Order: sequence, then structure tokens, then C-alpha cells
Amino acid sequence: MQRIHNVTQLADLDDDALARCYAYPRELAGPWLRANFVSSIDGAFAVDGVSKGLGTDADHRVFHVLRELAEVILVGAGTVRAENYGGAHPDPERRRAHFRHGIGGSADGAPPPIAVVTASARLDPAAKLFTDAETPPLIITTAHAEAERVDALRAAGARIVVAGEAAITATSLVRVLAEHGLHRVLCEGGPHLFGQLAEAGLVDELCLSTSPVLVGGAGGRISLSASGFDLPMARKQLVLAEDGTVLARWARR
Ligand SMILES: NC(=O)c1ccc[n+]([C@@H]2O[C@H](COP(=O)([O-])OP(=O)(O)OC[C@H]3O[C@@H](n4cnc5c(N)ncnc54)[C@H](OP(=O)(O)O)[C@@H]3O)[C@@H](O)[C@H]2O)c1
Repeated sequence: MQRIHNVTQLADLDDDALARCYAYPRELAGPWLRANFVSSIDGAFAVDGVSKGLGTDADHRVFHVLRELAEVILVGAGTVRAENYGGAHPDPERRRAHFRHGIGGSADGAPPPIAVVTASARLDPAAKLFTDAETPPLIITTAHAEAERVDALRAAGARIVVAGEAAITATSLVRVLAEHGLHRVLCEGGPHLFGQLAEAGLVDELCLSTSPVLVGGAGGRISLSASGFDLPMARKQLVLAEDGTVLARWARR
């Protein structure tokens, strides 16, 4: 009988053990790009325009542990608008503990900033992203964004970085994170942002929760890009939840 390695039952893992399963590499000379998505069995990334309908308790556990570990949460403006993103609020003591163990977190327990990629800067300065953030968001935008919009986001407390003319290349994006010393990256989507990062060969790791549901519809997939690509991945770990959720961690080969 063939033995399958690195398969764990979620019920056997307490929160510390789960965090160790998702440890970032200890020594990082530059950004390590981890993405996290939830999908239905038939590949949908959203139901009625949001991912909430796909979430399970198991997916939520991993979602929160990944946020505890990350130094920055990178997200496309489409997702911020669709999901009305707020700031991240991981437990400060757990962040400090992860940092002490060298697996992620932060020395002072402060939450990771949300870094939003937006060509247009079309974000509402009164939104939760600004009003509900302990750590100010980082807005990565372009020279084409309207100056008044950018000024309003700055006035709402955001740090602003202009990283392209009309769009930001995936390489520029990763460079901005490196320049800010943000190495443990957690990209929470959406599919357009993730597709560009994957197309550029910059995704180191994908954490994918598959929810035990079929949803049909005409929606897209978790990775959308202008052209197709072939990025071989290796399965690093499978965590199985009692409710049927499959939590997979894939790394670039
Ligand atoms: N299932 C999941 O785990 C999951 C995770 C995340 C999101 N989602 C779902 O995905 C949907 C949103 O995803 P999406 O693919 O439409 O949007 P997205 O990737 O989150 O955001 C796209 C937007 O990001 C900005 N952007 C992306 N690439 C850029 C670049 N190279 N240069 C400058 N700006 C760039 C642009 O913003 P501007 O238009 O402001 O210029 C663009 O419109 C929602 O339905 C959400 O619920 C699901």
C-alpha cells in the first residue's frame, strides 16, 4: 500500500500546531509570496460576487492563522471593493509568539498592513479599509490615478506608493514590498491580481481551501490572466477537516 506523507487531520492540530504547518521560511532575503484562496469543488471563487458563501469553519481557521503569520496582506482593489475589506486584527500575543519562533508574525505584535493594488485609486476613504485599520493601509497605485482621489486616501491615513504609469507590473509590485521590508507576503486575491503574479512566475506558494460544495454558475477561476501559462507546483501538505474541507498547500517546484 502506498503511504501518503504530510496528510493531517485538522482536528488533531491546535492553533499553534496549525501555525507551524504554515510557517514561512526562516531566512528570507526578499519577499516570499504566499497566496490564499477558497474555492468550491467545481472551481468557483465567489458566490453572488463574494467569497463568503464558500467559507467553512476550517477555511476560517486557516485564513486567520495565515493572517497571524503574514507581514503584509496584498490584495487587488476589486476584492477590497467587493468584500468591503477592513484592517486585519490578529491577536498581538500570537503575533509576538510566531515572531519569537521565527515562523512569521511581528516583533511588537502589530497587525500586518493591507496593501492594495489599484491603478485608479478608486477606493472610498470612508470605507472600513481606512476606518477599521490599526496599521495604516499601503496603497500601491499609478501616476494615472486622479490626484484628488490619492490625496483623499492619504488624508484617510493611507501610505501611498506610485509604482507605475498606467498599471503596475508584477515585478514592480514585489519590488515595492521588498523596499518596505515586507517579506512574508500573504496575497488574498483576487483572481486578476493572483493571475498576474502567477503569470510572472512570482508565486512561491498557494494555500487553497476546497469547500465541500458544487455551485455551478458562469464565474471564473482563482487565476485569471491575459495569456495562459504553465507553472508546475508541488503538493507540500494536505490538511483534512471533518466537514469535508480540503486544505492544500502547494509550492512552486
Ligand atoms: N475565493 C477567494 O478566495 C477570493 C479571494 C479574493 C477575491 N475573491 C473574489 O474575487 C472577486 C474580485 O476579484 P477580481 O479578480 O475581480 O479583482 P482583484 O484582482 O481583487 O482586483 C482587480 C483590481 O486590482 C487592480 N489591479 C490589478 N492588477 C493591477 C495592476 N497590474 N496594476 C494596477 N492595478 C491593478 C485594479 O484596480 P482599479 O480598478 O482600482 O484600478 C483592478 O481592477 C470578488 O468577487 C471577490 O469576492 C475571492
